[in-house]
Amino acid sequence: MNTVEEIRIHDLIRNRRSTRAYSSKPVPAEALTALFEAARWAPSTMNEQPWRFIYADKNENPEGYNKLLECLFEGNSSWAQHAPVLILTIAKKGYSTLDVDYAHAWHDVGLATGNMLAQATELGLYVHLMGGFSAEKAVELLQIPEGYQPVVMATVGYLGDVNELPENLKAREAAPRTRKPLSELVFNGNWNNQAF
Ligand SMILES: Cc1cc2nc3c(=O)[nH]c(=O)nc-3n(C[C@H](O)[C@H](O)[C@H](O)COP(=O)(O)O)c2cc1C
Repeated sequence: MNTVEEIRIHDLIRNRRSTRAYSSKPVPAEALTALFEAARWAPSTMNEQPWRFIYADKNENPEGYNKLLECLFEGNSSWAQHAPVLILTIAKKGYSTLDVDYAHAWHDVGLATGNMLAQATELGLYVHLMGGFSAEKAVELLQIPEGYQPVVMATVGYLGDVNELPENLKAREAAPRTRKPLSELVFNGNWNNQAF
């Protein structure tokens, strides 16, 4: 097996990152459609496709945008309010045809969201996912029906000027992206046999 240092991964994975510095440049409607189209082609349990999305573009639908913004906790809304588009991902909790728990619904919404991230990177867009929001508020303000559950919120837009961020966020932006080593994550055959 190659050493980890020699392994190349796709640029769409390598270059993606969660920025907090957004430009006010609008996101073209067709680019936004491409994100949802990419999400739509994710795999899902029994092809259930449990993902749903509520989005709002600040210019085109300011009222909807402000409702989404209101769902975010202050630590996120402070910078997220500069992104031209906000999205909420939602999971359908049950199967359409089976009366058993759809344990993988959130997993499958995550796969669809991952597709969106790759498509966004391809288009030069930056998506920042946020768990820091009120799901209860989202259900109420965005009229989400019974049987559906908010999963994650996201900002979408083009990269802005990092120097316009407040000092604490500027520092986070400049910090190197880090990940746990494969030796901590991957096992060969059983838990006690590190693969790397
Ligand atoms: C489900 C989920 C929830 C997250 N919640 C937040 C959040 O509330 N606020 C935030 O600033 N970043 C949030 N993030 C972004 C992570 O902090 C970020 O992905 C991680 O630090 C790795 O950085 P990178 O995406 O630039 O590689 C979230 C990411 C995920 C996947």
